[in-house]
Amino acid sequence: MSGPNTSFDPKQVASLDATAVAAAVDSALAGIAAAGDLAALKEARLAHAGDRSPLALANREIGALPPAAKAEAGKRVGEARGRVAAALKERQEALELERDERVLVEESVDVTLPTDRRPLGARHPLTTVMERISDVFVAMGYEIVEGPEVEAEWINFDALNVPPDHPARTMQDTFWVQSNDSGVVLRTHTSPIQLRAMLERDLPIYVAAPGRVFRADDLDATHSPVFHQVEGLAVDRGITMGDLKGTLDHFAEAMFGDGIGTRMRPAYFPFTEPSAEVDLQCFVCRGSSVGDPDRPCRTCGSEGWIEWGGCGMVNPRVLRAAGIDPDEYRGFAFGMGVERTLMFRSGVTDMRDMVEGDARFTLAFGLEA
Ligand code: DAH
Repeated sequence: MSGPNTSFDPKQVASLDATAVAAAVDSALAGIAAAGDLAALKEARLAHAGDRSPLALANREIGALPPAAKAEAGKRVGEARGRVAAALKERQEALELERDERVLVEESVDVTLPTDRRPLGARHPLTTVMERISDVFVAMGYEIVEGPEVEAEWINFDALNVPPDHPARTMQDTFWVQSNDSGVVLRTHTSPIQLRAMLERDLPIYVAAPGRVFRADDLDATHSPVFHQVEGLAVDRGITMGDLKGTLDHFAEAMFGDGIGTRMRPAYFPFTEPSAEVDLQCFVCRGSSVGDPDRPCRTCGSEGWIEWGGCGMVNPRVLRAAGIDPDEYRGFAFGMGVERTLMFRSGVTDMRDMVEGDARFTLAFGLEA
């Protein structure tokens, strides 16, 4: 077995020579500095610090040196590799920073640029149906009028022949503005608009008034504290209940299709005399389900008719409250639920869908004008 080669002179291993090591470092530092981007730096790393780089090869030679020579050569090569590694790290960081800054500029997005991808949205079907109703009445020569949602108690109730102790007041659970002796309410129906029209307009009067109304109800499938009605009012000489019936039939046909009529059932409203409940002929079975247990109708419960609203001849007391002589003029009035109308027309079964404002509900109705 031979011992260590003590006569071996490390200076004779060319790659470990101080000049060679210094040259390898110089060439590495120059190569690293010249790398203009991260891809070039990757190549420089391979060439100057990779497994086959001059300094890695030199490092491998150290193992074969005699112990006395190992320390000096090891220190020299170690320092050289350390300098190269530090230069690589520094250049890497600089180039990454440069790239990040460039990407920020090159890939910036101008959020103010116009785009054609904006969703169009849709109008709420209640708005659309109220406009459709308005069109029907405008075509008959009516004017569309509005009134305030915050209304005087006197106009919402008293002038409509609903005095404070009248049981009809409890028919409509009222939201009071401030306290319930403030004299100010959120209107519980659109009927106060009748009175405003009579106070503000010249005779004869033909007006329709769609609008939002409020009652202290909980929200469920069939109730909402906020809903809509459409009020109709005609005041003229010689108005009869026949005019009212013809108007309602035309309204029903225009909304639900040819041949769909209405019927009146005797009822009580303080502001009309006589008063009637208005039923709509069932537009699904058109009455054919009545008395036919084999063909039940879910829309009307096989009744042939569905409740739509109230109507009547304007009570002379209301005419008088508005300063109109009931011996000279007469009027008819009616009030329908708009949500009910939409439910019938479009098969909406849950009131909550109409108030929650979920675009998925509204969008299904599209942009129907
Ligand atoms: N205002 C009534 C309600 O909200 C509906 C109504 C009934 C209106 C008869 C009228 C009418 O104009 O004549 O229940």
